[in-house]
Amino acid sequence: MTLSIHPIDPVSSPFFGGVASGIDLTQPITADQAAEIEKGMDRFGVMVFHDQRLSDEAQMAFSRHFGELEFASNNLRDTKAQRLGAHIADISNLDIDNNVLARENRRRLFSLGTRLWHSDSSFKVVPAKYSLLSARIIPSKGGNTEFADMRAAYDTLDDATRAECEGLVCEHSQLFSRAQIGFGDFTDDERREFAPVKQRLIRRHPSTGWKSLYLASHAGTIVDWPIPEARAFLRDLIEHATQRQFVYAHEWKQFDLVIWDNQATMHRGRPFDAKEVRDMHRTTIAGLRSTLEEAA
Ligand code: OGA
Ligand code: MN
Repeated sequence: MTLSIHPIDPVSSPFFGGVASGIDLTQPITADQAAEIEKGMDRFGVMVFHDQRLSDEAQMAFSRHFGELEFASNNLRDTKAQRLGAHIADISNLDIDNNVLARENRRRLFSLGTRLWHSDSSFKVVPAKYSLLSARIIPSKGGNTEFADMRAAYDTLDDATRAECEGLVCEHSQLFSRAQIGFGDFTDDERREFAPVKQRLIRRHPSTGWKSLYLASHAGTIVDWPIPEARAFLRDLIEHATQRQFVYAHEWKQFDLVIWDNQATMHRGRPFDAKEVRDMHRTTIAGLRSTLEEAA
C-alpha cells in the first residue's frame, strides 16, 4: 500500500478538500507518512480517510504525530463521569450509558452550538491546530459536516474590507457562540471558565505562511469597537467566508476519519434526527501559541 493524496473535487476545488488512500491508520505509520499527510493538510485544509476502524487508542497514537493532544472539555461538566477518556472529545448525542440524550438535555442543547460556523478552541488562549473526527456510528441521513476555506475567504475580500480587517483583534468565548442560539444557562464557574480570549482576525499560517480570516461564532467583540458594530461586521465576514464556492460538505460514511486544520478553515455540523445515534470521537491537536504571538 502506498499513501496517495488527491483533491476530492479536482475540477471545481483543486486546493481545498483532499482524500487519502493507501494507508491503514489502525497500524503505526512512519514519520515520512506523517510528513506527507501534514503536507496534504497544508494544501487541502481538510482531508478525508475512508474505512478507518479506529479504537480511541489508535486514534490518539495517530493524532500525536501532529503535536500535543488537547484535553477534551467534553462540553459541560454535568456529570463527573465522562463517557470517553481525557483526550477524546465526545461529539455524540449519547449519555454515559450510551442512551440518546433527551431533547431538552442541557449538554445536548449546548452542543448545538457546533451547528454555527466555528474553528475549534478559538476560545482558548492557545487555539487548536488540527481536529481529527472519527465516525463510529452515523445516522441514516443528515448530520453532514461542512468546511469553509478561510484562505479563499481572505484572498477574495475587497480591498477596503481587507484594509479594515488589518490589525484587528477579536475576543472569542463560548458564551458568545451560545448566546447566538439562545443558550445562556451557565453557572458562575462556567462563566469564569469561558472568559473571552483575544485572537487576531487575520492570521498567517505557521507552516505555509498563507493568510486567512480567523473567524468563528465564538468571536463576539472586536477590541476598541462598539459591540453592535463589531457583531454586524463579523456576521458579514462569516457570510462572505461561507459562500458555497468556498465550502466542502462532507457526507459521512461509517469509519471515515476527517482531519481539518483549524488554522485555515471553519466548520459546522448539520442537523439530523435527534432520536438516532450519532457517535463521533474527536482528538484535537493543540497549536503552539496564541495568534497574537504569531508572525503577522
Ligand atoms: C467538531 C464539530 C461538527 C459535527 O467535532 O468539532 O464541530 O458535524 N463537529 O459533528
Ligand atoms: Mn467543532
